[in-house]
Amino acid sequence: MKVVSLINMKGGVAKTTMAINIADCLATRHGKSVLLIDVDPQFNATQCLMPPDQYISHVKDDGDTILKIFDRSQRVIPSTVADSSQSKPKKLEDIEVVNIKNNFDLLPGNLELYRLEMAPGDGRENRLKNYLQTVCDDYDYVVIDTPPTPSVWMTSALIASDFYLIPVRADPISLTGIDLLRSIIEEKKDNFDLNLCCAGLILTVTESNTLVFRRAKENLERDKYWCKYLYQVSLPKRTGIAQGQLEQTHILSSDNNDAKRAITAITTEFTNRVEDDE
Ligand SMILES: Nc1ncnc2c1ncn2[C@@H]1O[C@H](COP(=O)(O)OP(=O)(O)OP(=O)(O)O)[C@@H](O)[C@H]1O
Ligand SMILES: [Mg+2]
Repeated sequence: MKVVSLINMKGGVAKTTMAINIADCLATRHGKSVLLIDVDPQFNATQCLMPPDQYISHVKDDGDTILKIFDRSQRVIPSTVADSSQSKPKKLEDIEVVNIKNNFDLLPGNLELYRLEMAPGDGRENRLKNYLQTVCDDYDYVVIDTPPTPSVWMTSALIASDFYLIPVRADPISLTGIDLLRSIIEEKKDNFDLNLCCAGLILTVTESNTLVFRRAKENLERDKYWCKYLYQVSLPKRTGIAQGQLEQTHILSSDNNDAKRAITAITTEFTNRVEDDE
């Protein structure tokens, strides 16, 4: 099982879009069994994979979400009939994921993570890794969608991962952030003694006929460090990609042929990179 986090401290660079569509392509085109984990409190990946009614009933029925991994406190269940009872946190190995389609499962996100971040929680950073040990025989790939803010959730994702993949927009300001991101990841690797490799850098929401795109690409191709990580194919800007997301339509099932070609090529390059790394 290979675990990859989509990461960038810059918001809106298509982390979620890439996480969902790479996961979808691994499952549908490569026949891999995939689990997507949404550790972003904004839970956008979940919104792109579960229709709102399904998610609302899932949460109402106490269906499992990422919160079950991080919130290990006992809950008081008020009762009008007898004394209040306490429910023990679920064992990590008993957490149930949601099946989205053949080969593709989701551990949904939860807005409540915002509240939980403020609460004390010793060793919380390691829980995602501990959970993944319980499913290591079930999946070929685990794809983790992370929030843009440095947080315990982002750290947990890195601790649990073998690889990180960086989506970045092809503009000068976005590109200045990648060296800072690299230094933060290096620091986490030292602090937590992680064996974590970069699976590449993907230009996203690109407009290939613009000067800003060509300059960004040339700068990365000339950069001594990043040149070897830059993906050959970038994800083009297409409004249809954004429009389809809340209707749970992914790139491969859209009629957008160049976006389909791009996500197929990106996923193949990703699998080649992580499989070469063994
Ligand atoms: N290739 C694309 N073409 C057009 N719009 C896109 C494309 N990729 C992503 N978007 C849109 O850009 C916005 C940001 O994308 P996304 O949510 O994937 O980014 P993110 O990095 O996960 O954001 P956040 O940092 O908030 O988690 C969304 O509205 C999404 O629909
Ligand atoms: Mg996101």
